[in-house]
Amino acid sequence: MSSGLLTSAVGSLELRSPLLTGSGTFGHDPAAALRFLGPEDLGAHVLKTVTPRPRTGNPPPRLVETPAGLLNSIGLENRGLAWFLEEVAPQHREAPWPVVGNAGGESVEEFVEVVAAFGAEPALAAIEINLSCPNVQGGALPFSTSPEAVGEVVAACRAATDKPLWAKLSPNVTRIAPLARAAEEAGADALTVCNTLLGLVVDWRRRRPALGQGMGGLSGPAIRPVALRLVWECRQAVGLPIVASGGVSSAEDVLQFLVAGASAVQVGSYCFRRPDGIRRIAGDLRRLLAEEGCRVRELVGSLRWPGGGAAGGGEG
Ligand SMILES: Cc1cc2nc3c(=O)[nH]c(=O)nc-3n(C[C@H](O)[C@H](O)[C@H](O)COP(=O)(O)O)c2cc1C
Repeated sequence: MSSGLLTSAVGSLELRSPLLTGSGTFGHDPAAALRFLGPEDLGAHVLKTVTPRPRTGNPPPRLVETPAGLLNSIGLENRGLAWFLEEVAPQHREAPWPVVGNAGGESVEEFVEVVAAFGAEPALAAIEINLSCPNVQGGALPFSTSPEAVGEVVAACRAATDKPLWAKLSPNVTRIAPLARAAEEAGADALTVCNTLLGLVVDWRRRRPALGQGMGGLSGPAIRPVALRLVWECRQAVGLPIVASGGVSSAEDVLQFLVAGASAVQVGSYCFRRPDGIRRIAGDLRRLLAEEGCRVRELVGSLRWPGGGAAGGGEG
């Protein structure tokens, strides 16, 4: 069956498949990735967030399952930029797919430090910036909640690299369109939509939150309709390519995101359950596309809204 069915692109980055890993959900090891996935299955390997200095992350427990979802508060644990550049990045230089670095920081300067280093690293084809990081200078609210903060960090990162720059937005906002526009105006090449939804699970016997830190980020099938709605809203708001992220565990899910406007789709939590999940989804995707007689590229953004109008609809 023709592998051309799956080809897509995020701006200038050509992809053999629209399926990407989600940051923080697939590990850093390219050899492990190759044990579970073929080069034709994975469009790009998106790596976990790297911050300038090592972070120990949040106190345990850090993960709790919910109906159709996973609540996590890993707290961006990572071994820092120097370790990444010395130990991780070189292993990816011969990878059979493009590799995307994910940069984090607690100030604009920290983002720029990571993005500039990623920009000089030949293993990385693109850079995703995780705007859900707390903005310590701005009062610890995440960058992703303020259009001004998004604009400032994206503009500074844009000036620090020529590589494709993807701004990963948060769903924890009243309206995502102003954030999407701020990222576009500041020079982002693509949007990743979206990160986890803020949530809480209570251990009522102990009268304590189930997670050591308190709240966490909800992922998995429970968030898919929300992520899909946000992709569609971003599609209406900006002309940038969109990388979807949120609750994908089947080819049917991927097709929904493509039709709503995503050029590529990240598979996150599902990979914990099935490390070969992206291969399985890719196989089903080829079959469904062949049955339907169309290619990924033809589906992107093909959603027809009822009445021909723009986004909208009731809540009850
Ligand atoms: C355990 C875990 C760790 C994550 N770590 C990161 C991270 O380091 N950086 C980031 O941008 N997103 C991180 N995410 C968010 C995922 O990349 C993804 O955007 C989110 O989980 C929604 O997709 P999913 O429902 O397919 O998991 C993490 C998610 C989980 C579940």
